Amino acid sequence: MKNEKAMVRYDYSDRVVIVTGGGSGIGLGICQAFAESNATVICVDIDQPDSTELPDQVVFYHCDVSDQEQCSSTVRKVIDRFGRIDALINNAGIQPADSYHPIDELPENVFDRMVGINFRGYHLMARNVIPQMKQQQRGVICNIASGQAHRTARHVGVYGPIKAANIMQAKQWAVEYARMGIRVVSVSPGAIDTPMVRASLEAQGGGEALANRHPVGRIGRVDEVANAVMWLCSDSASFVTGADLEVDGGLGAFGAFADPYEGKT
Ligand SMILES: NC(=O)c1ccc[n+]([C@@H]2O[C@H](COP(=O)([O-])OP(=O)(O)OC[C@H]3O[C@@H](n4cnc5c(N)ncnc54)[C@H](O)[C@@H]3O)[C@@H](O)[C@H]2O)c1
Repeated sequence: MKNEKAMVRYDYSDRVVIVTGGGSGIGLGICQAFAESNATVICVDIDQPDSTELPDQVVFYHCDVSDQEQCSSTVRKVIDRFGRIDALINNAGIQPADSYHPIDELPENVFDRMVGINFRGYHLMARNVIPQMKQQQRGVICNIASGQAHRTARHVGVYGPIKAANIMQAKQWAVEYARMGIRVVSVSPGAIDTPMVRASLEAQGGGEALANRHPVGRIGRVDEVANAVMWLCSDSASFVTGADLEVDGGLGAFGAFADPYEGKT
C-alpha cells in the first residue's frame, strides 16, 4: 500500500464545521482537510495551536470540552457568528502516560480526567450542537473512537472502554435523531502518527512492533483519517448513520494491538 497523501476534493463551501481538539494530530489534519474543501472551520481546543500549522481561514475558540458552560458558550458563539453548524467532529481526547496501569493501580484523578474529556466531552459538545442541527433538519456528528474500542491490550483499561462508549454514543444518537436529518457516525483509527502516539511510544517503546502489527507495515497518517471523516460528513454518505469505520491499515482484521508488555510480567 502506497504511503502517499491522496485526497478526493469535496466542496464544503457554506458549511460550518466544528473540530474539537483541532490544534494537534488527527484534529489538526481534519481542520486542514475541511479548510482545503472551503468549509468554515472552527477549531476548539484548550491549547492554541502553532499559527503556522492552522490554515488562516480556521477560527480558533478556546474551550475545555469537559466543561458544560464552556461547550455551551462556544457553540453559542459559533451560531451567533456563522448562523449554522453542519458538522461536529468529536476528536479531543487524551491517553496520558500515567494512564498505562491495571485499573487497581490507576490513580482516580487520571480516570476522572479521561472520562471527563474522552466521554463527557463528546456528550457535551453533541448535546449543545444538536438543537441547532434539529432546527436545520441537517447535520453530521462524527466521533473519533479508536481501534482499542474493538480489541484491547494490557494496561489500557480505561481508554479502551471509553472509546467503545464513543462508538455506542454515535449509534445511540444516530437512532435518536435519524428522523431529524442528523447523521451520527464514528471512526476507529489504528495507530496514527500524532503527538499522542509519539508520547506513548516514548513512555513504552515498541514503535517498530506497533508498525508491524498493522498488516500494511506502518502506522497511519492524519490525512488518512481526515479523508474518511470528509467522506462520512459529505452527502456522498447520506445513507450512512450509526456506522463505525475502522481506518487502520488492516489492524482490526489482523486482530491484535502490539502488547508493550510482551515478555514482561
Ligand atoms: N493517534 C492515534 O493513534 C489515535 C488512534 C486512535 C484514536 N485516536 C483518537 O484520536 C483523537 C485525537 O488524538 P491525537 O493522537 O490526534 O491526539 P493529540 O494529543 O495529538 O491531540 C489531541 C488534542 O486534543 C486537545 N485537548 C485535550 N484535552 C482537551 C480538552 N479538555 N478540551 C479541548 N481540547 C482538548 C489537545 O490540546 C490536542 O490539541 C483522540 O480522541 C484519540 O483518542 C488517536
